[in-house]
Amino acid sequence: MTEPLLVLDGLQKSFGALRATDDVSLSVDAGSIHALIGPNGAGKSTLIGQIAGALRPDAGKIAFMARDVTGLSVPQRAQLGLGRTFQVSSLAMEFSALRNVMLAVQARKRSTFRFWRPVRGDRDLTDPAMLQLERVGLAERAQLPVTALSHGERRQLELAVALALEPKVLLLDEPMAGLGGEDSQRMTEVLGNLRQEAAMLLVEHDMDAVFTLADEISVLVYGRIIASGSVADIRASQEVRDAYLGE
Ligand SMILES: Nc1ncnc2c1ncn2[C@@H]1O[C@H](COP(=O)(O)OP(=O)(O)O)[C@@H](O)[C@H]1O
Ligand SMILES: [Mg+2]
Repeated sequence: MTEPLLVLDGLQKSFGALRATDDVSLSVDAGSIHALIGPNGAGKSTLIGQIAGALRPDAGKIAFMARDVTGLSVPQRAQLGLGRTFQVSSLAMEFSALRNVMLAVQARKRSTFRFWRPVRGDRDLTDPAMLQLERVGLAERAQLPVTALSHGERRQLELAVALALEPKVLLLDEPMAGLGGEDSQRMTEVLGNLRQEAAMLLVEHDMDAVFTLADEISVLVYGRIIASGSVADIRASQEVRDAYLGE
């Protein structure tokens, strides 16, 4: 067994008297998708925020690629390859889809030492940007402004932007939110094809997507992981049904 890419060890975070993260430990293996499910207010986004570096845990450790990153900033973690997409869109609406991804490619090239040379021409940015658009199934929409894209296409574009930063682990906070059945299916397919490229911690309410994609599932309730296991384990768990699935 190789070391997991991401290891959370005893994370704790309180907001006043509220324990939003209560002794959470979990790991994400290379080439795998670890889904995190749980009711609204369970602390899923708070956990993602701590992993990405936007929130400081009160206690516990975060190790990424065998390195303690608990004290690092958001950009430092992103540079190491810890990527995230946002629930609130960070796209430049008036720019084309391609231009949005090119900006991320450019940011990546600037921050990476081995690419420390002037960009030779537009192709240095357009080629890698087009590659990401192809991966998420948006190549044919590359020249359109974001305003002309559907909601589902915008979510795909956000993923392409995140991928342009070449993450080793992607933190996805409800990537299917607001998507219709067809768009959810497309996103599920895209994410499934990406797991070898970037392992994922996937927060998602769409249980079809979770059961299709997850190699491992953890269930968070009131800040605590109450169950963790394979899709079959979680489907079979009475405790999970009672607490969350409502079956
Ligand atoms: N910045 C904050 N200040 C105070 N309370 C917060 C803050 N962020 C989240 N919370 C609270 O922490 C709990 C977990 O929230 P959140 O992580 O957003 O849950 P989830 O993403 O699972 O729906 C909720 O009770 C929420 O109201
Ligand atoms: Mg949330």
